Amino acid sequence: MADIKLIDIEKYFGKNYVIRKLNLEIKDREFLVLLGASGCGKTTTLRAIAGLEEIDSGKILIDAKPVHHLKASDRDIAFVFQLYALYPHLSVYGNFAFPLKATKKSPQTIEKRVGEVARVLQIESILKKNPSALSSGDMQRVAVGRAMVRRPRAILMDEPIGSLDAKLREEMRTELKRLHIEIKSTTLYVTHDQVEAMSMADKIAIMDDGILQQVGSPTEVYNHPANLFVAQFIGSPVMNISDCKLGAGETCTQCFLGEETAAFPFSKSLFHQIESQGVPANRLTLGVRPEAVRHRPSDCR
Ligand SMILES: Nc1ncnc2c1ncn2[C@@H]1O[C@H](COP(=O)(O)OP(=O)(O)O)[C@@H](O)[C@H]1O
Ligand SMILES: [Mg+2]
Repeated sequence: MADIKLIDIEKYFGKNYVIRKLNLEIKDREFLVLLGASGCGKTTTLRAIAGLEEIDSGKILIDAKPVHHLKASDRDIAFVFQLYALYPHLSVYGNFAFPLKATKKSPQTIEKRVGEVARVLQIESILKKNPSALSSGDMQRVAVGRAMVRRPRAILMDEPIGSLDAKLREEMRTELKRLHIEIKSTTLYVTHDQVEAMSMADKIAIMDDGILQQVGSPTEVYNHPANLFVAQFIGSPVMNISDCKLGAGETCTQCFLGEETAAFPFSKSLFHQIESQGVPANRLTLGVRPEAVRHRPSDCR
């Protein structure tokens, strides 16, 4: 297995600056989810790590060794694409065996490895079927299995369950996570779906317009978002945001909303904390998660 490190990665498509000085580490055996809206550079990042896309500058290290000059086939990384590209003329067994035959593994090794992967994915009963006879969920299981069967140093998955229907997506989330716990491969998983990221990741890396915004555990990015983008990207329904200022009220510190049309008492210690960081107390943004709002009937009388 492997530790992957990206250092100052930059990528242009013509004048389009797609990856902007990306620094990111995926630790050995970690399940890191790269999360961001469509077009923010997730696929390009994966393709760069896999060696399918050249980078303009920066370094890609696997287990501390630079790999950015190596061909894709020499990096020993598996890629699961968004659209499962199975070989249609081969059975499920044939699809699993293909990468092993290509690397000249013995028939005994092939049988053993295919058997193992089929057991882990619970698809032993479909090994003889052709891809055209499979449900979309099973097709995706086979695509994941084909990536795992050659025991790569790391697995990259690009929105692997994005095209499945909602119920199946939920099932596959649990299944992929269980699989990761069992095989413990270093995994970089791309999605634009924050629920998927929150439920599967050891760590989430949030990207916007080619710029990494924050890396942290699901709890960290939810409770301590690094900026407004992350605060509003994580959480469903989204966090409510309002301009506000803090100031002295009649009896206590008050938080005034918008054009001072509404106000509520504000924690003094938090106010001092904000002041001590040199943040102007008259130009703040208040973020409130919908589930954090409490209704106190006594205030309405
Ligand atoms: N082969 C390519 N040639 C030119 N532009 C590309 C190419 N691949 C991606 N892009 C552009 O790079 C940006 C990032 O794309 P991509 O990495 O696919 O984003 P994501 O996977 O987050 O949706 C987009 O603006 C996209 O149009
Ligand atoms: Mg993409």
